[in-house]
Amino acid sequence: MRYDSLSKQELEQLYKQEQNAYADCKSKGLKLDISRGKPGREQLDLSLELLNNLKSAEDCIADGFDVRNYGLLDGIPACKRLFAEILNIDESQIFLGGNASLQLMYDTLAKAYTHGLLHSPKPWSQLDKVKFLCPVPGYDRHFGISETFNMEMISIKMNDDGPDIEAIEEAVKDPSVKGIWCVPKFSNPQGVVYSEAVIKRLAALRPAAPDFIIMWDNAYCIHEFDGPYTPIAEILALSASFGNPDMVFEFASTSKITMPGAGVAVIASSKANITYMKKLLSLQTISYDKVNQLRHVRFLKDMKNSLAHMQKHAAILKPRFEAVLGALSKEIEPLGIASWNHPKGGYFVSLDTLPGCAKRTYELCLGAGLVMTTAGATHPYGLDPEDKNIRIAPSYPPIKELEQAIEVFCVCLKLAALEKLLQS
Ligand SMILES: Cc1ncc(COP(=O)(O)O)c(C=O)c1O
Repeated sequence: MRYDSLSKQELEQLYKQEQNAYADCKSKGLKLDISRGKPGREQLDLSLELLNNLKSAEDCIADGFDVRNYGLLDGIPACKRLFAEILNIDESQIFLGGNASLQLMYDTLAKAYTHGLLHSPKPWSQLDKVKFLCPVPGYDRHFGISETFNMEMISIKMNDDGPDIEAIEEAVKDPSVKGIWCVPKFSNPQGVVYSEAVIKRLAALRPAAPDFIIMWDNAYCIHEFDGPYTPIAEILALSASFGNPDMVFEFASTSKITMPGAGVAVIASSKANITYMKKLLSLQTISYDKVNQLRHVRFLKDMKNSLAHMQKHAAILKPRFEAVLGALSKEIEPLGIASWNHPKGGYFVSLDTLPGCAKRTYELCLGAGLVMTTAGATHPYGLDPEDKNIRIAPSYPPIKELEQAIEVFCVCLKLAALEKLLQS
């Protein structure tokens, strides 16, 4: 029974029914949260061994180097080898950072402003305008970084195979367009995997800005929860082959492999970029936490073992996504009031309400004790022009709470849609 096929009277009747359901939810005094893509307790427990897998002075020696001491600014060789295998690149392209890839992303752009990138005619802080391309919906923290540097963000539509590449090719003709945010595998929030064709065209871009940068945030590079690991095209080699060797900065971390906030993050780029960044970073730190890098090597070992570990995450995550998608298909699909993606990896379900209903749904959820990602957060400046996108993060709460949360969400979504339809 699609809502758009119902008479006003029928809609009014349903509205009363959903108002009662909503009052019922409210009376339970719930405290639920599906707002952020955080691993749940069970997932964190998978990596407990990390906490004590270096037990002696001998354990701290790797490749003849004592990881407890200063040195090796770009990271320990064994951990570079591990990431090189995971990202399918050469060790020489790797710079290992601290505990968060987001910090490395922020720092890379901060350096573009203070010092310029390798091919910058001048630091970006000396330019009148810096524009950045933002596939939407996207990751709120990317947009937050752009906003804090006062960039003008240009929204690029996301398609099923990646961002609208024709719009990007057109936009980069403007020399003030300096870069693009990309989450190429299981994008946040839609779970889109960029196709080989789109990745090739990104690698082959001919931007007017000589220092145009692709911020390749490969946060979910081995994060399938449904089906086998499927690699995407490797953009660093592709961009080099198209004559753009220094255009791409790739980022990744073990945040969603081991422990968020206590993992290892990485920049992968051309050797020339790594050398340039190393020189700048050498003034910020003598070295990052190499003890943690070695703990990760001892725990994750290699790609094969890392993938086996990710299967354990998958076994925990899959039922959670099924709970969300199952409830949506049962409660919402027949009504024709929303559409959503069916991701095979990553951390999110992205849902589009009827135009003009996302904020209201969010407010209703809040009123019933359910915290969702703020409506609008998936768009630059927090402004979703159609007010329709909502991000659902099923990983954190225990499954019973997740089921309750999605039940409340469905009631709020229906109520918001009915209000909208009754107004029109
Ligand atoms: C696309 C994306 N990039 C980066 C991060 C954060 O990664 P890190 O913990 O390495 O800073 C997240 C976390 O949710 C994310 O979704």
